[in-house]
Amino acid sequence: MDFYVLTLFPEMIENGLSHSVIGRSLKEGIIRLKAINIRDFSTSKQKHVDDYPYGGGCGMVMQPQPIYDAFKSLDVPSKTRVVYMTPQGRPFNQKIAEEFAKEESLIILCGHYEGVDERIIEEIVTDEISIGDFVLTGGELAAMAVIDAVARLKPGVLGKEDSFKDESFTDNTLEYPQYTRPPIFMGKEVPAVLLSGHHGNVDKWRRQQSLIRTYNKRPDLYEKLELSKKEKAFMEEYINATST
Ligand code: ADE
Repeated sequence: MDFYVLTLFPEMIENGLSHSVIGRSLKEGIIRLKAINIRDFSTSKQKHVDDYPYGGGCGMVMQPQPIYDAFKSLDVPSKTRVVYMTPQGRPFNQKIAEEFAKEESLIILCGHYEGVDERIIEEIVTDEISIGDFVLTGGELAAMAVIDAVARLKPGVLGKEDSFKDESFTDNTLEYPQYTRPPIFMGKEVPAVLLSGHHGNVDKWRRQQSLIRTYNKRPDLYEKLELSKKEKAFMEEYINATST
């Protein structure tokens, strides 16, 4: 998969994604990343990329021309999605990450200052995405979060193909608790079932823990779950036992 990032800070993107799992996948060519400096496409002598907002107000607005020319310089299929990182966008989640991971290439536009000229959004942007209800100084950190979440879904990026099979959000539940050596830490023992070697019991315990966690930590997700009769009975018992 090819990621193209239109940004005023290409080094931030390149450096931020050059480590760990994503960095290795880039080195091995499993995924590709190109950060394009919007400033290189400014036609002004001083390489300006922003200007005062029409109608007044504070801050500066990124001009449409350098962004459009940077976008036009890309050699990508005409249907390539263009994602604009903005707190006004659709809240990013695992489902959107899976949707983006189906694409062959993705263009991500990072804004700065007070945003970008509205006409560039109308002209080239297909998706507006937010990574949460807070305002960052620019879209770069948000773009890196999206690229990381999408890239790790591509085959070969995570070591084991099924590393994300059980993880949080895949089926709208949170992941079960994990333990490793030592078997006792600060007097706390690893749950005995995990040492039993009985895979059936381990799977059952993990599923129950996932349900309990989702119920306690993300009641909004829990409400949407469709539980089997047995799971419902288990959770009713758990809720009764803990509500007194
Ligand atoms: N740019 C600034 N804030 C942002 C946010 N919360 N999500 C995505 N892009 C942003």
